[in-house]
Amino acid sequence: MKVLITGATGLIGKEIVKRCHEEHISVHYLTTSKEKIKSDDNYKGFYWNPKEDILDAACFQGVDAIINLAGASIAKRWTKSYKKTIIESRVQSLSCLKNALSKVEDHHITQIVSASAIGFYPDSFTKYYEESCTPASPTFLGEVTTVWENAVDEFSDLGLFVSKVRIGLVLDDKEGALPQMVKPIKLGLGSAFGSGDQWQSWIHIYDLSGIFVHLIQNELEGIYNGVAPNPITNTELTKAIAKTLNKPLFMPNIPKFTMKLALGEMHILLFESQRVSSKKIEESVFDFTYSNIHPALEAILV
Ligand SMILES: NC(=O)c1ccc[n+]([C@@H]2O[C@H](COP(=O)([O-])OP(=O)(O)OC[C@H]3O[C@@H](n4cnc5c(N)ncnc54)[C@H](OP(=O)(O)O)[C@@H]3O)[C@@H](O)[C@H]2O)c1
Repeated sequence: MKVLITGATGLIGKEIVKRCHEEHISVHYLTTSKEKIKSDDNYKGFYWNPKEDILDAACFQGVDAIINLAGASIAKRWTKSYKKTIIESRVQSLSCLKNALSKVEDHHITQIVSASAIGFYPDSFTKYYEESCTPASPTFLGEVTTVWENAVDEFSDLGLFVSKVRIGLVLDDKEGALPQMVKPIKLGLGSAFGSGDQWQSWIHIYDLSGIFVHLIQNELEGIYNGVAPNPITNTELTKAIAKTLNKPLFMPNIPKFTMKLALGEMHILLFESQRVSSKKIEESVFDFTYSNIHPALEAILV
């Protein structure tokens, strides 16, 4: 089996590549950086420039399924122009891919699995979100995920079936949110954000990569939440990190207005509450390695 991955060089992409190789799936990938192109037997890079609608169509050769992760980082200040970049980078990537694929007559690609995010769901302390829950959040993240998911749905015009993973807070040792949360706690300056009661639907990166591969190996269609079975509150997460690192927590919670001043609109990433269900992916017979936060953090931090 062979997959084509966009965004393969990023945090989640690198882990999915590793997981594909463990499962003897070879990888073609598209990258916007020519210096990231490698040409190994089971890991072969191809150049694309979605903005200019440029793509090396040799990337489709022998491919059975596509995994789409490409998009400009959301972890940069959301100025008006950068918000446009966040949305356009995702829509242009998908339209460049679709345009190129529509011109290839003899491919045998049957499925596309795309990343999305739990930022699709509105902020709530009480709701428990399954994939069928609508409407989308009225925030910028709700807009991004809606536009992104609609763009990937268009691949059904080419006869592909479409799968989407609404990804939660990804826990990894080197990149993403966790190392940023760990830093102040290691210095003895850690604390929860706001009331600390907001739900954090986390997932260990190993399980997330497993979900992408599971959807391809089992040809599963539709939306799947990419979160672990047991979400926790921000206070519980902060305490769990401190306990794992054997550090005390005595600082007062960080007020919302402070983070709003520091981060602007992006502060919602820390204060919004989404309790998200993993029932659907579990019922598809996916076994999580990390269902609870303490073993997940121990595997990453110790
Ligand atoms: N990490 C999380 O917690 C999380 C949560 C929810 C959703 N997601 C989504 O899942 C996807 C993968 O996440 P990640 O954390 O692995 O992201 P990442 O580390 O930022 O990697 C994304 C990759 O996308 C490519 N890219 C960057 N800007 C681009 C542009 N303007 N046009 C086309 N490609 C571009 C880059 O690959 P090249 O340099 O090789 O082109 C980059 O390596 C992202 O779209 C992200 O929004 C992530």
